[in-house]
Amino acid sequence: MKYKVEHNCSTTAARAGLITTDHGEIPTPIFMPVGTVGSVKAVEMSVLERDINAKIILGNTYHLYLRPGLDILRKAGGLHKFGTWSRPILTDSGGFQVFSLAERRKITEEGVYFSSHIDGSKHLFSPERVMDIERVIGADIIMAFDECCPGDADYNYAKKSLDLTERWLDRCVKRIGETEPLYGYHQSLFPIVQGCVYPDLRKRAAEKIAEIGADGNAIGGLAVGEPTEKMYEMIELTNEILPKDKPRYLMGVGTPVNILEGIARGVDMFDCIMPSRDGRNAKLFTWQGTINMRNAKWANDFGCIDPMGTSFVDQRYSKAYLHHLFKAGEILALEIASIHNLAFYLDLVTTARKHIIDGDFGTWYPEVVKDLGRRI
Ligand code: GUN
Repeated sequence: MKYKVEHNCSTTAARAGLITTDHGEIPTPIFMPVGTVGSVKAVEMSVLERDINAKIILGNTYHLYLRPGLDILRKAGGLHKFGTWSRPILTDSGGFQVFSLAERRKITEEGVYFSSHIDGSKHLFSPERVMDIERVIGADIIMAFDECCPGDADYNYAKKSLDLTERWLDRCVKRIGETEPLYGYHQSLFPIVQGCVYPDLRKRAAEKIAEIGADGNAIGGLAVGEPTEKMYEMIELTNEILPKDKPRYLMGVGTPVNILEGIARGVDMFDCIMPSRDGRNAKLFTWQGTINMRNAKWANDFGCIDPMGTSFVDQRYSKAYLHHLFKAGEILALEIASIHNLAFYLDLVTTARKHIIDGDFGTWYPEVVKDLGRRI
């Protein structure tokens, strides 16, 4: 994998760059739609590719390991072939899901023992096991196995958790060095900076990770209950230490405003379930603010869904029609809203990239942030 910074913003830490993987190029900043079980919910792959123009999607190790399981993924020749997605894929390690979804989990030095949320079966996720699973799934970018510390953890817990995450990271790096990709293309391991909201822990974690010299680096453990200003402070502090010549990925964040604030602080890659999940709950994101499609005021609005929207659904369907679909409980409502929101998130980062290149990102973004958070 290669990464090149093409433009630096002169007034913020934002940069426009290009990641090159064996499955194609990713212009940055980029938003990565979440396809937890190997499918971006309610969006067919060709729509994702042609109309939303997603450059990279996410898969999740925890979910894919439990279902369909490694035998099927191996037989399919990896997740790209299984789901017919020919562009890059990133897999999260399960370091987040095993803590939020699994039942009866126990954290030990070896790894996390847990029971599946699907059938109660018992499993162990160790750093070595997770690396082997990510090899079988076959993503271009694979995340290290970490403990995602809760946003309100006290200092002692956060420190112990970071100590463990750092020892696990060493084991992930070792395992990846000892194994080969299964499907003939390169896989890049991204370490994850943890350390909760404690500056000295974040600093220590970022310094250790900077020395590893990975193809890219991630910031985890944010947007997990801490105040938003703390999150911005941690991003800023971490990005001052992480290498400038490698992409930086902020995990699981966030709202359109969070994304622009992250870009302004030097983040290159984002993922979040928000556009998909909120879309399925009738919330649409637009440049003017958010829309609740269930609101009765849309029942007679025959204007298109979003005049500024870049997706075909925005011009084709009216607000009144989409409102009706949500009220009637039609699955088409979920599809249209998911396509609209994902296309909007891609438009958000593409437009930010354009402003970085044009040299006016620093004045453009504080203006649009004022509208993005509004409710229409
Ligand atoms: N997704 C959102 N936050 C995190 C994190 O801290 N770790 C991992 N592995 N995934 C995440």
